[in-house]
Amino acid sequence: MKITSLGHAGLFIETRYGSILCDPWFNPAYFASWFPFPSNEDLDLEQFRDPIYLYLSHLHRDHFDARFLREHVSKETTVLLPDFPLDLMERELRDLGFHRFVKTNNFEPVDLGGLHVTIPSLVAPTDGPLGDSGLIVDDGETRIFDQNDSRPVDLETLVSLGPYDAHFLQFSGAIWYPMVYDMPERAKRALGVKKRANQLSRAMRYVRQIDASFVVPHAGPPCFLDDDLFRLNDFDRDPANIFPDQTVFLEFLEEHGMDNGRSMIPGSVADLSRDACTVEHPSPEDAVRTIFTDKRAYLEDYKARKQPVIDEIKGSLPRGQVDILSSLREWFEPLLVQADMNCVGVNGRVLLDLEDEQQVVLDFQKRQVYEANGGGAYDYRFRIDPALVEHQILNHEEDWINGLFLSCRFEATRRGAYNEYVYNFFKVLSPERLRYSEEYYAQSAPVRQLWECGNFMVQRSCPHLKADLTRFGEEKDGILTCTLHGWQFDLATGKCLTSDESRLYTRPIVEKVGEETSPTSQH
Ligand code: FES
Repeated sequence: MKITSLGHAGLFIETRYGSILCDPWFNPAYFASWFPFPSNEDLDLEQFRDPIYLYLSHLHRDHFDARFLREHVSKETTVLLPDFPLDLMERELRDLGFHRFVKTNNFEPVDLGGLHVTIPSLVAPTDGPLGDSGLIVDDGETRIFDQNDSRPVDLETLVSLGPYDAHFLQFSGAIWYPMVYDMPERAKRALGVKKRANQLSRAMRYVRQIDASFVVPHAGPPCFLDDDLFRLNDFDRDPANIFPDQTVFLEFLEEHGMDNGRSMIPGSVADLSRDACTVEHPSPEDAVRTIFTDKRAYLEDYKARKQPVIDEIKGSLPRGQVDILSSLREWFEPLLVQADMNCVGVNGRVLLDLEDEQQVVLDFQKRQVYEANGGGAYDYRFRIDPALVEHQILNHEEDWINGLFLSCRFEATRRGAYNEYVYNFFKVLSPERLRYSEEYYAQSAPVRQLWECGNFMVQRSCPHLKADLTRFGEEKDGILTCTLHGWQFDLATGKCLTSDESRLYTRPIVEKVGEETSPTSQH
């Protein structure tokens, strides 16, 4: 099997039964905030125009580059579709001209004339833009798992579909937290340190569980070339930066006794077989190393080349074309009326602070949108350039995470703990999306199985996104950390220490305990 890196999460997989183009990303995403790192500008795109199959893991714009797909990929290509609850991806692809599809089922291998592919799909409202996925490819000689940036929780099934010769996975951050939050610098740095460490150890935990012969750091980090965001790049291995690059992860693995990591940059080609993986880079080793050791100079050059694109994208944002308050009221209020679970989850008020232009309140208790009349407490406050909100309105963007929020072009303040329902609401801004999220939350019944953790019997599934805590939980001094996203629980009380009002069912071990019991409190 021959695998060419296209940068970020992009792969071109060549097998004896044909090729698969995965997550090609070339155009900047999120209002010119994110660019592929290292740059993939020099790749000859013609090589990838006619793949037999196209696989897009999800709809985030650093994975689903509509412009590239429209301009550079044959519409005769067959698309491998993940098993998502809504057919949003298929609709977008049909709009671009694609018309051949293989619809997969979660974890069910599909035989494509000798080439076997399996797509583990994740469908919680918090999984990407209402769905994220990975890809297992098996050509009878070699088997790889492209985990991408998905966070699979059913590791037993994943492992049972192995063994794997190579594992491609994300290890770096892809979020705005904690950078955009308005808080003392020291506190922000402490959160950054914790997040960076959690990301690396979560990825390592996946590496250990999947246990592939070779591991390739993949799907990030992006780089930030606009002056407004340039500081977000991890120039000097700052322990508080959430965007460590692949060299950091490879060293982290080595420190933990794993020397089977392989680095790939755009244009690197891996020749993979059952027991060998040789990687050839597009430039000499020294030049590749310099990208990472002299990252500031590399990014300064890259930035200079991309400045015209950044200027054009920012210059085209609408200003003063939209009555923001009445547009949001007309759009959001009918949704709020239907959003029982989300409104109960937020149970408060969110302020859109549009700089000097307007202060718009989203009131999840009254289910209304209105202008702030000064004062008042808000659970979340987002300070945003009104041009970005105008853009969202004019384009009727139904998912503001996959655009405005991932751009990192805002500031946030929050009162109290993280509330996932706030961000969830901004990604379900259509009746169809909202209905799915409402039903999902309404149906997510607690999993009742218990396991022994320290001196307690503890609910096995994490209250956050149901990770199996027997695999992802780490207990220290009576605190259980779910390493999938870092939520922590006090075992004595079950109280969640990091997020919202979620609770973990726990009880002290005093006698032999049966397997069935009810968690005390869930969302
Ligand atoms: S599943 Fe997200 S912290 Fe446990």
